[in-house]
Amino acid sequence: MDLEEVSLLNTIFIVLWIMGPAYIANSVAVLTGGKYPIDQGKTLSDGNRILGDGKTWSGLLGGTLGGIAFGLLLDAGDSRMALEYLTGEEYEHSLWGDSSILVFFLLSFGALFGDMSASFYKRRQNLQRGDKFALLDMYDFIFMSLLLCFIFQQNWLVSWILDGWVPLFTILVLTPFLHRGVNIIGYKIGVKNEPW
Ligand code: CTP
Ligand code: MG
Repeated sequence: MDLEEVSLLNTIFIVLWIMGPAYIANSVAVLTGGKYPIDQGKTLSDGNRILGDGKTWSGLLGGTLGGIAFGLLLDAGDSRMALEYLTGEEYEHSLWGDSSILVFFLLSFGALFGDMSASFYKRRQNLQRGDKFALLDMYDFIFMSLLLCFIFQQNWLVSWILDGWVPLFTILVLTPFLHRGVNIIGYKIGVKNEPW
């Protein structure tokens, strides 16, 4: 598919579709998370936790598997037909390339790895679990998703993300809104402690 020949709105839609597993991984982690802290309660010499109780194995595992499952769902027959119908494009091949499962893994694990790296940094800045760190919280997950894809699936990533200015622009501009929106919903329905 050549994104430069697709209309602006459809391109934005397709980009969000491609990044779906990364966006969903964090939300699933909130639902499955809370058990078995990854840092096992340990602190560093600064007196703060390595990662804190907000980063757990149950969140990491659930979020990664949830993201992969969501990718498979987005890539399956019916959803692909729905996407073709919505955008008026034809998709003969998977949007995620030949190694789609690996890409789903890189996107969803990358999201949680990014979130975890941010927590490590936040603890070093004396910020407690749940404390706000605006820009970092909004971009940590998408940055690491893209970085892992860049390292392990470079050809695939470059084939669409540098196809005109819209893909990168979409990710940079819409990610904070999506992130904040989903977290507000999570907070309102009572599964998340803070609305950020
Ligand atoms: N979560 C988890 N394991 C992960 C990621 C998230 O268990 N790897 C769960 C935790 O219950 C966490 C919640 O999802 O509290 C919300 O995630 P997030 O906002 O990233 O964590 P915070 O509690 O804000 O902790 P931090 O300050 O370290 O970001
Ligand atoms: Mg948080």
